[in-house]
Amino acid sequence: MKGKASAPAKIILFGEHFVVYGNPAILASINRRISVSAKKGKKGKVTIKSDIASGEFEGSTFKLIEGVNARNALDPLYFAAKQALDARKQKTGLEITIKSDIPYGVGLGSSAAALVATIAAVESLLGRPDKKKICEGAIEAERIIHKNSSGADCFVSTFGGLIHYSRGGGFKKVDSKTKLPLVIGDTGIKHNTGELVSSVRKLKEANQMVFAGLMSQAKDICNQALVALGSGNIEQLGVLMNESQLLLNRLGVSHEKADDLIDVAKSSGALGAKMTGAGGGGAIIALAASKEDSERIASDIKAEGFAAFEVEIDPIGLVIG
Ligand code: MEV
Repeated sequence: MKGKASAPAKIILFGEHFVVYGNPAILASINRRISVSAKKGKKGKVTIKSDIASGEFEGSTFKLIEGVNARNALDPLYFAAKQALDARKQKTGLEITIKSDIPYGVGLGSSAAALVATIAAVESLLGRPDKKKICEGAIEAERIIHKNSSGADCFVSTFGGLIHYSRGGGFKKVDSKTKLPLVIGDTGIKHNTGELVSSVRKLKEANQMVFAGLMSQAKDICNQALVALGSGNIEQLGVLMNESQLLLNRLGVSHEKADDLIDVAKSSGALGAKMTGAGGGGAIIALAASKEDSERIASDIKAEGFAAFEVEIDPIGLVIG
């Protein structure tokens, strides 16, 4: 018998970093997924195999199967699986297999999706899975690698769609009156979310007044974006994405390669473009006025030697079974 689940990647349209300090963010799950299957294994042993890292946990010992920095990548997943076992007082071992079509380490939420899908697969193997508990478990495990996580990535990967999220305030589904033709460009530069979040914390501590000003501007942008989505004003959304990028540049979390890709997207006709997620390289998102424009933007980014693909909002989130 196997437990199976899949969870989507995400993009943050507005509010990354500021969401860690209580501001709202608008984010969406997208049509790229991680699939996990879990079956019972030898008592006390948890084996996790993925495309980038594989290893075996037994109590506090870890045996590498393959991958660079495998332990760092696998620790949160082991914690998450163990938590699910312990909650049900189960002593069984587990064999977990992860397959992903989400580029990792570039701000598209691959770690959150892996955690959500892993917990869901184990829960479905052991009993009755509950989405709210799965999401809470994933946030707890995420905090091992990035202790100030806002929880936004796990929420959107679990519940799916276009959402308005705030720490403590939970999430609300957002109804967009217009289609959002979106393109992702990938600088290929991997980042460390925890380090980028800490760098913002340092900036905040060094200059509380300036940070408070940026928070307030970011909140305004998010509120205006909600209005623009509600009225289908796609041009205004593009303008707000550009404004949002200026604030992220002020936080120092963007990267020259991301800025270059944003310029390529804009010269190619994007209504707006910005980095998405933690930054420090990673991925950018560009909003196009039409399908025809989004095709051209993706092909212009590729012509510069970077990966690019069009994406759609995934309305479903976590799928169990
Ligand atoms: C990372 O995808 C988003 C950040 O805002 C961190 C977080 O929300 O925990 C940078």
